[in-house]
Amino acid sequence: MAAAALGPSMKQDRRGNPVGTSSPEALAHAETALWRMCSFFDAPLADIDAAIAADPGWMLPHVMRAAFLLTLTEPSLLADARAALDQADLLAANAPERERAHWAAADRCAAGDWHGACAAWEQILLDHPRDLYALQWAHLFDFYRGDARNLRGRVARVLPEWPRDDALRPYLLGMHAFGLEECNLYPQAEAIGREAVSGEAKVPWATHAVAHVMEMQGRFDEGRRWLHEQQPVWDEGNGFAGHHWWHLALFHLEAMDLPGALALHDAHQGSAHAVLTLQRLDGAALLWRLRLLGADGLGPRWADLADGWDLTPRDAGHSAFNDAHMLIALIGLGDAARAQALLAAVQRRAERGSGSNTAMAREVGLPLMRGLLAFAAGEAAESIRLLAPLRETAHRFGGSHAQRDLVDQTLLAACAMPGGERALGRALLNERQLARGATPQVEHWRQCMGRA
Ligand SMILES: [Fe+2]
Repeated sequence: MAAAALGPSMKQDRRGNPVGTSSPEALAHAETALWRMCSFFDAPLADIDAAIAADPGWMLPHVMRAAFLLTLTEPSLLADARAALDQADLLAANAPERERAHWAAADRCAAGDWHGACAAWEQILLDHPRDLYALQWAHLFDFYRGDARNLRGRVARVLPEWPRDDALRPYLLGMHAFGLEECNLYPQAEAIGREAVSGEAKVPWATHAVAHVMEMQGRFDEGRRWLHEQQPVWDEGNGFAGHHWWHLALFHLEAMDLPGALALHDAHQGSAHAVLTLQRLDGAALLWRLRLLGADGLGPRWADLADGWDLTPRDAGHSAFNDAHMLIALIGLGDAARAQALLAAVQRRAERGSGSNTAMAREVGLPLMRGLLAFAAGEAAESIRLLAPLRETAHRFGGSHAQRDLVDQTLLAACAMPGGERALGRALLNERQLARGATPQVEHWRQCMGRA
């Protein structure tokens, strides 16, 4: 940071955004925290603490703490986020308007108004297109809201305003690549993702975006090669590594290499590797796919996945996407009583609660949970009745196309069950084959449909 450039009347960060500190040291720590949030290399909390220590009167680091905690979608962290916002509020009088706007956005987010928070971050970006805090947090909540249009467009609306030599520009490219992928613009997504990692910067969001492209196109051999080649970018010391291992396992599943996927699960997805629900839900999603594809020996793995994961209804209703994956874990455990208790809690909170998640639960989360339970009970017709309409609406509860493919894969399995609908199954497979090619997994499902 060029401290001399920061005169008392021109307090700005290195991208020209107004800030409420004159401390170069505090700004440097905040910049490191920002990089950590965009790159997922270690949590930014120690750097945020250092920024606060360097300038205890600066509001923004407290808001950073709150917003970062909120992006983890853990109900247990809401109180800490709220406390950080309260602390920030005490410092608002001396803060620039931009930082007070950040407080207001994070406040909406903490109240469960994810749509309103994204709108507030967008307003900040209109005034400050190089405000990467606003973009990073809005991008993640666009993802949690399943807002593909803004995953792409919000980044595109600011990207031309960024100097090409900004050290964090590759992280914008990573976001842009993922947004393009979620808008099904695969060649553009792959090109931008590859550009993002063509320099020195490690951009796991970009390696991940390219993996998504290959997943959606059934390029499982290329996908495995890509992730192995890029492993130094996303693996060591990275909080996003587990999700990359999950994508690698999906490529093994597309090749119908179930032992390979199981080995990756055991090495990288068990309870020893997961702290957050965001990490655990990948394990649940992988084991569920393995179950659908007929893998054996999953029982101990479900038990391991649940070890340390609070699957009680206590935290239900914060994220419909997370709730559905908690239910999958309970189905895997064979714990029907707790599964029903979770479903009841989600329904209760969807009816009585407020915030963005209530509609997500009503429209997608609850019918999905009921469809999964019906499938697990062997009720083919009922599960198809519940799951088939979700193909057109499931994006509303967040996640990626690859994650929500769980709906299609469960539908395929339901169609192949006794009492299933082979005509629907064949139609789904035709659609799948045109998107992915006749991969071993597509052929596997075709054989299942023929046998049913
Ligand atoms: Fe992903």
